[in-house]
Amino acid sequence: MVDLSVDLAGVPLPSPMMTASGCAANGREMHRFIDITELGAFVTKSVKAAPVSGRPTPRMAETDSGMLNSIGLQGPGVAAFVEEDLAWLHSIGARVVVSIAGGTASEFAAVARRVVRSPYASAVAAIEVNISCPNVANRGLVFACEPSGSHKVITLVREEVPRGIPILAKLSPDVTDITEIAAAVVKAGAHGLTMINTLLGVAIDPVRLRPHLAATTGGLSGPAVRPVAVRAIWQVSAAMREGRVPAVPIVGAGGVRTGADALELLAAGATAVQVGTAAFNDPTAPLRVGRELADALDALGVDRLADVVGIAHEGGL
Ligand code: DOR
Repeated sequence: MVDLSVDLAGVPLPSPMMTASGCAANGREMHRFIDITELGAFVTKSVKAAPVSGRPTPRMAETDSGMLNSIGLQGPGVAAFVEEDLAWLHSIGARVVVSIAGGTASEFAAVARRVVRSPYASAVAAIEVNISCPNVANRGLVFACEPSGSHKVITLVREEVPRGIPILAKLSPDVTDITEIAAAVVKAGAHGLTMINTLLGVAIDPVRLRPHLAATTGGLSGPAVRPVAVRAIWQVSAAMREGRVPAVPIVGAGGVRTGADALELLAAGATAVQVGTAAFNDPTAPLRVGRELADALDALGVDRLADVVGIAHEGGL
């Protein structure tokens, strides 16, 4: 039996497999297909302080290169999220990574405060701070594309979140130097990094010759972005090895469909792996990928998942 257990900044998880934020709503639908308590953690859709109706439709487009979305952080707001979704996740015994978002640094902090002070905080394995949504008016430029804005968000969130609940900062691939943003958020107190959010794209309807999405731009996800995720993880992991970024765990996300895909992210430096777009076609994907990963490690003669984290930086097996 391969040991798949993971230490996520002090939080022990039985498996590295997580959902990716926004790809399985808040768990009820997916729980009809798989037992989401078997995941390392279930990652919720990013929640803001107040209810958000999101961007105009159409806001999803499937292309042969991947999926494009311009949802615009639609959600019920943190009060309803806590009472309905987090309460339910807590009641079934799920480990939950709560993804939070905000239009200002203080909104992020207010959302975090509400979550960690709720009666269901014991279900919260980590807070994932989504500073990288591409579908906001300023494209998140204030935050994940710019070190001082990113630093400020994490600093304020850190003041609200008790020790014992790690803070993960979710980063965008749409930046000149992702290691610069990584350094800023870790120095502000992030205990881990999730990489990557979607990559900004546009798809044109070939018959109507106009953009598929009402908002024109959207975030690209799926297998096409996997090499971008591997690149981002690789660059930040290399910078950690060189001491340019303080070392913290990396949660990999980006086009993972199979155990072999997950292994690629781990070898580049990820400690855990999220599955997002693949779950739209196959809601069992996050658990299936975990089983495939265990088989792949077994076939390679590796007993512990921890032994392959970042191994590509050391010349491989
Ligand atoms: O692609 C994305 N879409 N990334 C996010 O962070 C949020 C989401 C949305 O709601 O637009």
